[in-house]
Amino acid sequence: MKALILSGGKGTRLRPLTYTGAKQLVPVANKPILWYGIEEMANAGITDIGIIISPETGAEVQNKTGNGEKFGVNITYILQDQPAGLAHAVKVARDFLKDSPFVMYLGDNLIQQGDLSSFLDKFIQQQPDTLILLREVNNPSAFGVAKIDEHGRVLQLIEKPKIPPSNLALVGVYFFSDIIHYAIDNIQPSPRGELEITDAIQYLIDQEKQVSACNLAGWWLDTGKKDDLLEANRLILDTYLKTSIAIDSQIDPQTKISGRVQIGHGSIINNCTIRGPVVIGDNCHLENCFIGPYTSIGDHSTLIESDLEHSVILDSARIEKINQRIIDSLIGQRTRLTVAPHHPKALRLLIGDDSQIELTAI
Ligand code: TTP
Repeated sequence: MKALILSGGKGTRLRPLTYTGAKQLVPVANKPILWYGIEEMANAGITDIGIIISPETGAEVQNKTGNGEKFGVNITYILQDQPAGLAHAVKVARDFLKDSPFVMYLGDNLIQQGDLSSFLDKFIQQQPDTLILLREVNNPSAFGVAKIDEHGRVLQLIEKPKIPPSNLALVGVYFFSDIIHYAIDNIQPSPRGELEITDAIQYLIDQEKQVSACNLAGWWLDTGKKDDLLEANRLILDTYLKTSIAIDSQIDPQTKISGRVQIGHGSIINNCTIRGPVVIGDNCHLENCFIGPYTSIGDHSTLIESDLEHSVILDSARIEKINQRIIDSLIGQRTRLTVAPHHPKALRLLIGDDSQIELTAI
C-alpha cells in the first residue's frame, strides 16, 4: 500500500498567503497542515509516500518536510509541472505508484486523527476498485456530492451541484486499486480544463466497477479558505493540546495563564493574560498582551500591548499597540501591524494583493 499526498495546486482561495508560500505549509496549531496528513499515514502503517509538488512551492515543501525520517516514513517528491487537476496528479505519479493500491490524500485536508486506519482495513479486506469517504455537510453545493443507493453503492458523483442529490460530500481521502490509471487514461479535461478525479471515479461506476463509500463520523476540514483554517486551528487545539508546557521560556510573575497553554523555547512573556488553548512558538516576545482561546502564534513573533483571540499568527510577525481586539484573523509571516507614529487616528498601509482587511468604525 502506498500513499499519494497532493501538495501542488494554485491555492487561489488562500491568497495573499499563497503568493509567497505553499498553502499546505500554513500552520495549524504551529504545525504545517501537510504534516498532519503524513502523520496520519504513518499511524496507519503506510510508509511509502509520494508527495505531489508544484514548481512554485515544491522546494519550500521539500526543504521543510524532508525525506520523511522525522515521521518514520519514506517520502518521494513528484513534480507536477502545472495544476492540471487531481487526476492529472495521479497520472504524473504513475512511475512512483506502479501497480500498487494507494490512498490519495489532499494535502490541505484534515481528518480526525486515527480515522484513516479503519477505512484502510476495510479497503484491504473488501478489495473494492475504489473506496471513497463521505461526510454529511450543511452546504453540499460547495462540494463534490455523491448519490448513493439504499445499499450504500455509489451511483453518481457530481461536482458542486446546484440541486444536490444528497448532503454527502466527498472527503479529500480516496482509496484506489491500480484500475484508476485505466479510468484516468479514458477521461477528458473538464470545462475548467482539469483532469477531475470525480470524472475518473464516475468512469469506473459507469463501467460497473465496484465503487464503495464509507461515512466519516469524525470531523473533516478542507483548509483552503481562511475561516476553515481558523476552524481547523480551533479543533486541533481543542483536541490535541492536552496539557500546559513551557520549556526554557521566561514568564514573569505578573503573567496570568489559565487553561492549556504551550510556550516554546526562548520565549519571553511579561505581564500578559493568556487563556488557553493557546500555542506560542519559539523565541517570541509578548508584553502587556491579552491572548484569548484558540490562538496560535508562530516562532519569532513580537506582540506588544495588543489583544488577540481565535487567530493564527505566522512566524516573525510584529503586532504593537493595537487598541482594538484582533479576532478571527490569519496574519502572514513577517507582517507588521502597529499604529502610525504621530497619527494615532490615521491608517498607513502597505497591503499585499488580495488581502482582506475589516476595520471597525470608532
Ligand atoms: P484544491 O484546493 O481543489 O485546488 P487548489 O490548490 O488549486 O486551490 P484553490 O481552489 O484555492 O485555487 O486542491 C486540493 C489539494 O490538491 C491541494 O492540496 C492542492 C492539491 N492539488 C495538486 O496537487 N495538483 C492539482 O493539480 C490540484 C488542482 C490540486
